[in-house]
Amino acid sequence: MTDPVQHIDDLMDQYPSKPEYLIGLLQNIQSHYGHISQDAMVLASEHTKVPLTQAYSVATFYQSFRLDPPGENEIKVCLGTACHLNGGQRLVDGLSRKLGIEPGETTEDMMITLNTVNCVGACAIAPVAIVNEAYHAGATLGKLEKEIKKIMQPSMDTVETIEGETNA
Ligand code: FES
Repeated sequence: MTDPVQHIDDLMDQYPSKPEYLIGLLQNIQSHYGHISQDAMVLASEHTKVPLTQAYSVATFYQSFRLDPPGENEIKVCLGTACHLNGGQRLVDGLSRKLGIEPGETTEDMMITLNTVNCVGACAIAPVAIVNEAYHAGATLGKLEKEIKKIMQPSMDTVETIEGETNA
């Protein structure tokens, strides 16, 4: 497996050591690793000569940057105007209660990350939720709870299979 630090070094080689390249470098790191770890942030800050606190400010200002590792699955709820008017916020609140996390957070078992997004261009089918890239038109809490069950089910099957094999 590639050494992450060495790999980040390789990524950094693509960017001149100037502050204006910080955002591009962070985007590239995130697209490779799914998030920007503390170590990666330090390396990016040193490489672009942007003080670490300022680099963190940039990363937290832009909603698209993620500083924590994402869960295995992601549920995004659209909160653009059409979706908001059709109950998008109720979906977010319901999912938050169900999963025990706020938007932007991941469940303790790292299975599900909940996020909100702005208009995804599908206003005619509002409210829209996206579960692992699959769009759900006219999303309801009940439908999304079924999706959550489907996500959790494979891991339950695996546990049963492993137990079955152990007991055999
Ligand atoms: S507002 Fe949700 S898809 Fe446009």
